Amino acid sequence: SVEKSLRPQHLSEYIGQDDLKSELSVYIKAAKQREESLDHVLLYGPPGLGKTTLAMIIANEMDVGIKTTSGPAIEKPGDLVALLNELQPGDILFIDEIHRLPKMVEEMLYSAMEDFYVDIVVGQGPTAHPVHFPLPPFTLVGATTRAGILSAPFRDRFGIVEHMKYYETKDLEEIVKRSADIFNAEIVAKGAHEIARRSRGTPRIANRLLKRVRDFAQVSDKENIDVEIVDHSLNMLGVDDEGLDSTDIKLLKTMIVYYNGGPVGLNTLAANIGEETDTIAEMYEPYLLQIGYLKRTARGRMVTEAAYKHLDYPINNN
Ligand code: ADE
Repeated sequence: SVEKSLRPQHLSEYIGQDDLKSELSVYIKAAKQREESLDHVLLYGPPGLGKTTLAMIIANEMDVGIKTTSGPAIEKPGDLVALLNELQPGDILFIDEIHRLPKMVEEMLYSAMEDFYVDIVVGQGPTAHPVHFPLPPFTLVGATTRAGILSAPFRDRFGIVEHMKYYETKDLEEIVKRSADIFNAEIVAKGAHEIARRSRGTPRIANRLLKRVRDFAQVSDKENIDVEIVDHSLNMLGVDDEGLDSTDIKLLKTMIVYYNGGPVGLNTLAANIGEETDTIAEMYEPYLLQIGYLKRTARGRMVTEAAYKHLDYPINNN
């Protein structure tokens, strides 16, 4: 599918995250030379930056299989054993949202990661007995939006820890061009640049906006996607000149209008604008912090002067 081919399959096709790519390529090459499984990898960073894509690329580059699951999907230790049991030597187990694994499952992973075995209890009541269950060597790739909330013993068992950063505009521009190519859509350089600039540093957003812009261009009989149709479409989509969407704007305006710019707690804010606290914490706040529209204080979040200016509110110093 188009959706699938948007994901690069090899590290060489993967645009951006240059430091991470050069580090990973060394570890992959070294593990392959030694004919060993790759050490466990923890990828952390905001959603939509390509953590799942990278996990699949690692499997491809290592020439091994990959099983994909997520923290909330593994409800009990037995679910984990079932997954581990299906792994071939060297395979990758990819766990998305790994910070949401139940504690008992996390603890079972400790011995699996360190020494490739799990101890399970078989039978019930008086016949219950522990069974030592050896595993093939495998690589756990974990993805999380918040490395900070993993327990220290768990985090320490990942030999490779990589932080994914928001993409630079030039990299997103390349991604937009590549995706347009895959869609067979013609986009001018300035159009790609405009989508890139307004995608909050996030390939998933850039690709989503590209699809909508392409719809607008097609319906208005444009031969190619130019910067005018990009600007028009993004405005229609409620994406402002800085790439903020209606939720970003609602969040900032609520803080300004009802809390005089803060400080205000995340839960209060989430309740006020009708979003999940986790969604605000993982998807919205990090980018607003990054561009300097929000800052964190001990008493809560505060809006900065730059955000007042951008939203055209007078700064109120009291
Ligand atoms: N599509 C989404 N993310 C990408 C990336 N980092 N490189 C190339 N294509 C992508």
